[in-house]
Amino acid sequence: MSYAMQRSSSSYLRRACWILKAWMQDPTQVATICPSSPYLTEAISERECIRSATTVVELGPGAGGTTLALLEQMKPDSRLIAIENNAALAEATREIADPRLIVEHGDAADLMQILEHHGYPCVDAVVSGIPFSALPDMAAKKIIRAVYHALCPGGQFLAYQFRDSVLDFALPAFGPPTTQSIPLNLPPLQLYSWKKVENKQRAPQSVCINT
Ligand SMILES: C[S@@+](CC[C@H](N)C(=O)[O-])C[C@H]1O[C@@H](n2cnc3c(N)ncnc32)[C@H](O)[C@@H]1O
Repeated sequence: MSYAMQRSSSSYLRRACWILKAWMQDPTQVATICPSSPYLTEAISERECIRSATTVVELGPGAGGTTLALLEQMKPDSRLIAIENNAALAEATREIADPRLIVEHGDAADLMQILEHHGYPCVDAVVSGIPFSALPDMAAKKIIRAVYHALCPGGQFLAYQFRDSVLDFALPAFGPPTTQSIPLNLPPLQLYSWKKVENKQRAPQSVCINT
């Protein structure tokens, strides 16, 4: 099936049903009642760090709307590893027919073990929709630590959030982010971007931008 068909309005409605069902079972973890808007998925996937990446991790792909947008922009020889802790949503993301995609039903905190299992020492970008505001502090710290270790030097961390709790956990590791507002999404949210700088000099201005 082509990307246009997989991103069609009927596919969007199917994803919306999956998300709504998952939200009714676990509203705190799922944290949204409808899939990400095209404005959000494009703001993420059209960044140069995604287009040029060899390996990308997506944390919390939900029903796969962001996943499809990422795959549409990524190189033909690239890899996308999506980690989703809701079994039904992981199954929904697995419906995407693309040999570059690996879907793991698991916890984002286990990112390093998952990458090791697949033979990837580090990745070029991590995209996260995980609701950090809903996580216990320990769990959030563990995920940020895993993201930091998983990124290759120069790698990018992109987190779309409707609250700013992620900053409490990410600032000590990554320094200040660049921030883009995405008003046309339900709910409206912020897209935070960080770059892992090897020598710990923090350079938020060098975070990847839309092309
Ligand atoms: C805001 S939704 C993402 C929506 C997605 N972008 C879409 O368009 O369908 C957040 C997702 O993160 C997942 N999630 C929450 N905590 C997680 C964790 N610790 N590990 C992996 N996935 C998690 C939820 O199950 C949910 O699917």
